[in-house]
Amino acid sequence: MPLELVQGDIAAQRTCAVVTAANKELMGGGGVDGVIHRAAGPGLLRAIRALGGTPTGTAVITPAFDLERQGVRFVIHAVGPIWRGGQAGEPEQLAAAYRRSLELAAEHGCDSVAFPAISTGVYGYPPEQAAPVALRTIQAFLEDHPAMTVRVVLFSVGSLHVFEQAARALDRN
Ligand code: APR
Repeated sequence: MPLELVQGDIAAQRTCAVVTAANKELMGGGGVDGVIHRAAGPGLLRAIRALGGTPTGTAVITPAFDLERQGVRFVIHAVGPIWRGGQAGEPEQLAAAYRRSLELAAEHGCDSVAFPAISTGVYGYPPEQAAPVALRTIQAFLEDHPAMTVRVVLFSVGSLHVFEQAARALDRN
């Protein structure tokens, strides 16, 4: 199935690429980013700091360092928007962060990529509003890349249900 919604830990995935929710300074952080950096080891932080930064709505790609032991080849550092009420371009920026991450995975020859729910933690994007944006972007990408498997890894049962509900709503439309 090219789109999978699962509950779990993003750092435990064995996909070709794993996406982390980074900040635009690429300085490393807590949440998903902390979990990924702990699993990948210090080489990951050195690699992204060398890149300097990347604007909101974009992503950069690095090797996966110690995550390579579980078969992950790349970490994609995606910068989602900080939620400011929804009228400041957040949906477009969130979609762009997903789209660029998907493009990077494809450009690097990956046939599988795992995402967290970008921006729905520290950045405050309501999951109910982030889910349709994320899923629409992934589905549009999969229409052009049917061989790619995209897994969205939700940390809690609650957020898994939110994404499942959004997927059903999209299927109905
Ligand atoms: N696996 C999967 N999802 C997780 C995990 C995990 N191990 N840990 C947390 N999450 C979930 C959170 O519950 C949230 O729904 O990932 C989602 C994204 O949360 P954050 O990591 O806070 O990302 P974001 O909201 O995009 O904020 C990015 O936080 O860590 C800093 O440097 C980072 O400044 C940046 C900001």
